[in-house]
Amino acid sequence: MTMLQALRGTTDLLPEEVARWSAVEHAARRLARIYGYREVRTPVIEEAALFLRSVGETTDIVQKEMFRFTDRGEHEIVLRPEGTAAVVRAYLERNLHKTEGFAKLFYLGPMFRAERPQAGRFRQFHQYGVEAIGSTSPWVDVEAIALCVHILRECGVGDATVWLASMGCRKDQARSAEELRKRLEPHKSKLCKECQARLQKNVFRVLDCKNPDCHAIAWDMKAFFLCNDCTAHFQEVRRGLKETGIAFDDTKYFARGLDYYTRTVFEVRVKGLGAQDAVAAGGRYDQLVEELGGPPMGAFGFAAGIERVLMAAGTGATSAEPPARAGVYLAVAQPPLIGEAFRLVQRLRECGVPALMDYDGKSLKAQFREADKALARLVAVLGETELAQGSITVKDLGAGSQRTVPLDSFIEEISREEQGRCH
Ligand code: HAM
Repeated sequence: MTMLQALRGTTDLLPEEVARWSAVEHAARRLARIYGYREVRTPVIEEAALFLRSVGETTDIVQKEMFRFTDRGEHEIVLRPEGTAAVVRAYLERNLHKTEGFAKLFYLGPMFRAERPQAGRFRQFHQYGVEAIGSTSPWVDVEAIALCVHILRECGVGDATVWLASMGCRKDQARSAEELRKRLEPHKSKLCKECQARLQKNVFRVLDCKNPDCHAIAWDMKAFFLCNDCTAHFQEVRRGLKETGIAFDDTKYFARGLDYYTRTVFEVRVKGLGAQDAVAAGGRYDQLVEELGGPPMGAFGFAAGIERVLMAAGTGATSAEPPARAGVYLAVAQPPLIGEAFRLVQRLRECGVPALMDYDGKSLKAQFREADKALARLVAVLGETELAQGSITVKDLGAGSQRTVPLDSFIEEISREEQGRCH
């Protein structure tokens, strides 16, 4: 029979890999708390309309990359391609705009995009995202960028550059789009087929075309305008970042591939990652809350791709600490004692002590090998002779010592040593 495989663009994580992931997730949660962001969890499926209205109908994500299906002929459903729109929906649906106003939320979870899989680009990938909803202060931008840089550093990501820009308000964007279109028109034939169509529909998309020539031509047009308010906001963000000691490059970057952005946008790219070098990205979205049916409210957020963070970190700081030996392996000298041994193992577990045993009648030698592989600190050998004497032999694998412990006090003694709860 042919073996079934995971779908293209999806990955299984085996225990060693999960350990590296957990280290990142742990750092992400810890830093979120330090910066005052609280966790939210939204569903993996959402109504398609949510992303049409937020990410935008002409974006690649909506046009080509959403896993979309009709639910029993009723709803148009998608596997969420990103988290921001869902968090804003939840924020409004659960009335946080009335009960909390300014809310700082974060999430960790899988996102889905039907992209052509390649190194660093997956169909199911995972994001750590933060969203600060309810403020237009430039300090919110600075704080979130600082958190982003902090988490990447904490995860061992080196050689990262923060690319920073301001896309201006909607009015600035309309003006820039018109000007960009006008300036690009004479060069239309040099753009790819898709960008020729983008010229009319959503000209900013030319700036994030996967074809670098299109990006370069559009960038050279320098058709970007900021009104006085947006200029002041951007100045403040840059000043804040400088004063905080966060380096950035604001010379070669402008648009993001999602329509909801206004004003500050940023992307963190890492050298050596190849074409998919953005490990994290985000920006301000001052219109989105209103566009999804809420009151006018400023907001800022970013998301980091966990897979890319781990790729960029290599085997550096995110590799989990080698686990210390802990707990007990209860070795059974004669198979009929399995029941007795299981009762002891269960009592240890209920005391919070990691406890393992063999159920398959393996030799004592094989059980010792398993105990060592499982990094047990102790092997307790239960045999008929010991049982008759009311005692158990305990070997310390780390120290190489051995002792005999009365069965009556075995649980209490081990529990104390392992800092369990039964003493
Ligand atoms: P995004 O730039 O589409 O923004 O994605 C953010 C990050 O997710 C990327 O920088 C990358 O690390 C990771 N990522 C995206 N697509 C893939 C993929 N196919 N495979 C692997 N990793 C991927 C957003 O999603 C916005 N919601 C960010 C945001 C939050 N803006 C404001 N708040």
